[in-house]
Amino acid sequence: VLACLSYIVAAVFWSGAATDDVLSKHRFPKDFLFGVASSAYQVEGGRNVNGNGENIWDYFTKTKPEKFHNSSNGDVACDSINKFREDVKLVKNLGVDFYRFSVSWSRVLPEGYSNNINKDGLRYYNDLINELIANGIEPMITMYHYDLPLPLHQIGGWTNPYLAYYFEDYARILFSYFGDRVKHWITFNGGCAGYGEDGFAPFLNQPGIANYICNQVLVLAHAKAYHLYDREFRMLQKGKVGVTLEGNWYEPGSFAVEDIEAAERAREFKLGVYANPIYHPEGNFPKAVRERVDNISRQEGYLRSRLPTFSAEEVEYVQGTYDFLGLNCYTTFLVKDAEEDVSEKTSSDKDIRIKMYQDKQWHKAKSSWLRVYPDGMRKMLKWVKDKYDDPEIIITENGYSDNGELVDIERIKYYQKYLSAILEAIHEDEVNVRGYTAWSLMDNFEWIMGYSEKFGLYHVNFSDPNRKRTAKKSVDWYKKVIRERRVVE
Ligand code: NOJ
Repeated sequence: VLACLSYIVAAVFWSGAATDDVLSKHRFPKDFLFGVASSAYQVEGGRNVNGNGENIWDYFTKTKPEKFHNSSNGDVACDSINKFREDVKLVKNLGVDFYRFSVSWSRVLPEGYSNNINKDGLRYYNDLINELIANGIEPMITMYHYDLPLPLHQIGGWTNPYLAYYFEDYARILFSYFGDRVKHWITFNGGCAGYGEDGFAPFLNQPGIANYICNQVLVLAHAKAYHLYDREFRMLQKGKVGVTLEGNWYEPGSFAVEDIEAAERAREFKLGVYANPIYHPEGNFPKAVRERVDNISRQEGYLRSRLPTFSAEEVEYVQGTYDFLGLNCYTTFLVKDAEEDVSEKTSSDKDIRIKMYQDKQWHKAKSSWLRVYPDGMRKMLKWVKDKYDDPEIIITENGYSDNGELVDIERIKYYQKYLSAILEAIHEDEVNVRGYTAWSLMDNFEWIMGYSEKFGLYHVNFSDPNRKRTAKKSVDWYKKVIRERRVVE
């Protein structure tokens, strides 16, 4: 009888432990953070309020309206400048830990570089931060989300090395005024969009040259802000500083060695050019990128490589300037080796020389580039872990676009698949993912696509002067995920 009893006890115990194990594999870790995101130009509006300076989106939506879907602009957008208290209620309703939003540089410093600080701009962000904190939501600030003050663009934008100094000055203002309450800082979002292709402001479109110069200046600007935080703020404020990069995945289009290499090349040229200088133990642009651009430049008769060089001091100065890595991950591209860039989309892939495409079988969202392939998320996370010494990662954006349906089943399915991929990355591959951010809090101005692609958890009625917000079905679903800390039906 005793033997029998002890067998039963052991069996119960064992199955309990096994169930726990199975459960925990399906759960997000205890300290995992959930959030939701937006960016200044995409939601704020209030472009013409007193004291606000003009940025490149204000400028180009006016001067080149033909570049924007329905000639739309962000003059009013979601009118968050007036409705931010309501926005905070929406954020709170989700039950998220943090709200990721961006500060508009030209709203704080209308000229971008002079010490003429716009008090109303500061007040707006102060009020927003305080409102979030009063509601138990942590503010996470992106310092720059594509909206360069126009005067800085007029002196060459991110191709002007002085921008790194101006960014440092701007960063000092943000740390000084908001750093007592803001503990997560993202210096930059994305990268050099609009410098190497024509699909984004400032429409500079000089592939293989402007994008690389911008790339270097951006990375140096980031490092300056990081060091500034270390020197003057970290001890008292105890926050974290990182950068957000595009973390889409590039998968070989076949098993051929050339295509496997081409996919790796794409990763290095797309993500590595930003991540390597900061996160790789050796720093600098990836070796493969340096060699390739140097060679091609030489063959083309350039007097020097089109890829700028970091000095040894700069390599050292930039390397290691991070507390975490932010990744925006939406989709996967297939890659084949090619003689020249023959991708489906306009791109700055001059030196990569690939064919980049997507499998038509993968479910497609509204955005032309967005197809559902969640395994790419897991592979990208593993790649980043292995390549960059296992950094702390926050998924700073992930989301699905449609026509704005309130019953947004496809969005829910998308989130379910991508969140499951993240769980696998955490539990199977032991990637250090600390947080997840849904893009976006509400439908908003999707850059050149205007208001035609909706990513929101909340619907916004853009024909209503009051910009009424309505919860979509995905709101309740995401709430439940956060409450139960697992991917729910
Ligand atoms: C990434 C960008 O950061 C964001 O501004 C944009 O709306 C989303 N991708 C969707 O395209």
